[in-house]
Amino acid sequence: MTLSPSQIYTVEAVDLSTASDDVIRELSGLHNEIARERVPEDPPVPFEVFATRVRNRPKLMRMRDWLARAPDSRVVARGFVVRYEADTNQHLREASIEVLPAHRRRNIAKMLFREIVAAGETDGIVIEFFTNDRVPSGVEFLKRVGAKEKLTGHMNQLALSEVDRAMVRDWAAIDPAGYRLAWIDAEVPAELMRNVIVAYDTMNTAPRGETAMDDWNTTPEQIRDWDRSRRATGRERRLVLAIHNATGETAGYTELIYDPNVPHVIWQQGTAVVPAHRSQGIGKWIKGAMLERALRDWPAARLVRTGNADSNAAMLAINTRLGFKPAWAQSIWEIGITDARRYARGS
Ligand SMILES: CC(C)(COP(=O)(O)OP(=O)(O)OC[C@H]1O[C@@H](n2cnc3c(N)ncnc32)[C@H](O)[C@@H]1OP(=O)(O)O)[C@@H](O)C(=O)NCCC(=O)NCCS
Repeated sequence: MTLSPSQIYTVEAVDLSTASDDVIRELSGLHNEIARERVPEDPPVPFEVFATRVRNRPKLMRMRDWLARAPDSRVVARGFVVRYEADTNQHLREASIEVLPAHRRRNIAKMLFREIVAAGETDGIVIEFFTNDRVPSGVEFLKRVGAKEKLTGHMNQLALSEVDRAMVRDWAAIDPAGYRLAWIDAEVPAELMRNVIVAYDTMNTAPRGETAMDDWNTTPEQIRDWDRSRRATGRERRLVLAIHNATGETAGYTELIYDPNVPHVIWQQGTAVVPAHRSQGIGKWIKGAMLERALRDWPAARLVRTGNADSNAAMLAINTRLGFKPAWAQSIWEIGITDARRYARGS
């Protein structure tokens, strides 16, 4: 008698905010094995770093996790789905499935996909997955499932040893008349909360391709939730706002995140200039000022990484001149819940 994968492998739901060290250690090992395939140039993420991150996720990020075990009870795959608690985009779910290479093509991803679909309570839901060109199996799986590629982009990377420091200094000195910079390293102070909300909401003007994502309306509660989560994980942040002196309004911003326990890489978060303030050099100014700060504050860092849509000509124009180069291609894929249920049912 041949056993089906569901008789050999078992899938279980886990709550990572309360899971034991043993379970998180297993998942951390899985994470590093999968990462070795996708980013072999990166060192493994230490267990303690992985554990504090999964135990201190933002509260408004509603996450469900599953893991799959082999007959010897070893964790060989994981899946998760996220909904962000907000007043918009409640139809959107972000999901991921990862299976160890030695256990692929045994329907484990399909078992995890069924859990993700079953968690999608209502009609109208759209599930998003992310792929990259270093691991082609993700694309093949998503094509089979019936998902469609909706936004293509790249992870772009800047080698800090190669940065043209004279150019960065020039950009940091652009200092357009009528604007000032305001730096936020720790929690967002009450007096700048409104400015930060405008800054984050300006990311709504970045290209979203054919995705089903609508505009987000950032709230103080969300910002405090992200700040709390970041602080609990020991990650550092540099946020700079360009402020229009005459009105006190936000003209633009850029933000970096750095984990001293993962010291080689700085992660670029959003960069946006409010449309009414574009074409005055504010984008170059804030990026130059921020890079100078990062080079000074985080001397152990070797790289800055940033994900950009390929269609984002304005951002790429700045990043390319700074020396960012494509490291890998990545895409967002989407599938509606009706199509997802059809595949999950096996028809
Ligand atoms: C993508 C991934 C999760 C698939 O895991 P898996 O357990 O091998 O997939 P399954 O065995 O459950 O396959 C499910 C279906 O996809 C198809 N499929 C999976 N990988 C495939 C591949 N490389 N080429 C062609 N078809 C593939 C299977 O044939 C199967 O089709 P069926 O329903 O007709 O039987 C796995 O390759 C992986 O972990 N990749 C790295 C992480 C990643 O890229 N994730 C992105 C997607 S979320």
